[in-house]
Amino acid sequence: MRTLSSELRREKMIGFVPTMGFLHGGHLSLVDRAVSLSDIVVVSIFVNPEQFGPSEDFLTYPRDFGRDRRLLEEKGADIVFYPETEDIYPPGYSTYVEVEGFDTTLCGARRPGHMRGVATICMKLFNIVKPHLAVFGEKDYQQAVMIKKMVSDMNLDMEIVTSPTVREEDGLAVSSRNRYLNEEERRDAAVLYRALLLGKKLIEGGEDNVDEVVGAMEKMIEEKKTARIEYIEVVNSENLKLTERIDRPVLLALSVHFGGARLIDNIIAVPEDAT
Ligand code: PAF
Repeated sequence: MRTLSSELRREKMIGFVPTMGFLHGGHLSLVDRAVSLSDIVVVSIFVNPEQFGPSEDFLTYPRDFGRDRRLLEEKGADIVFYPETEDIYPPGYSTYVEVEGFDTTLCGARRPGHMRGVATICMKLFNIVKPHLAVFGEKDYQQAVMIKKMVSDMNLDMEIVTSPTVREEDGLAVSSRNRYLNEEERRDAAVLYRALLLGKKLIEGGEDNVDEVVGAMEKMIEEKKTARIEYIEVVNSENLKLTERIDRPVLLALSVHFGGARLIDNIIAVPEDAT
């Protein structure tokens, strides 16, 4: 992959979409974006053990390479990079990338080692694929902000492009983990987007108290029997720091369990006096 990329990079604009496979409409929209911005599109498929905690779903994470390859061909991706775990982390591997401050809020605070695992694999993939640009989904907002910071801090010669969250008809963000939901959980999970819209409406209608906004969202989600809230947070949309009063653009972000599925989603809200 490195040899191929070095040759291609001389004359072609390389766009890159890193994924963990089991592709859905969200991933495919990132591929569309990369196709529209580059000459050659590389998609990686690698379920990265370093970003899963010991009690998380690394072993059961859905995988279907044949299906993924067909979908990527149909979408016009040029190269699928599908390394083995040992190629990426050979015995004795010991170097990690940590972007400071990302393990104290949102998913970073609840999944020890997760953000470090994501930063490390992205740095490695960027060094191997040598893209001019990489496309990340806004559903994993914290991840996208962290990777932009890493690229800037480490002077990487590439750009990070973000792309909007793709939703089902009832608003549920598409995710590989939606397949863990049974019928009732799937129906209940649609409440997440409604709760985010409620929070946004409150803020944009003048509510500046975080507890009021979070309380209203919690109440709506808790009405669903299968929902178990992990967090609902309101953070500064640029640096992801917790905010006490909502007087600038914020990210409303949440993580909620439905049965065995941990789902995340977010939305940006801009109070009137901040526009
Ligand atoms: O968003 C994901 O699927 C993963 O975190 C990524 C960026 C492919 C790194 O493993």
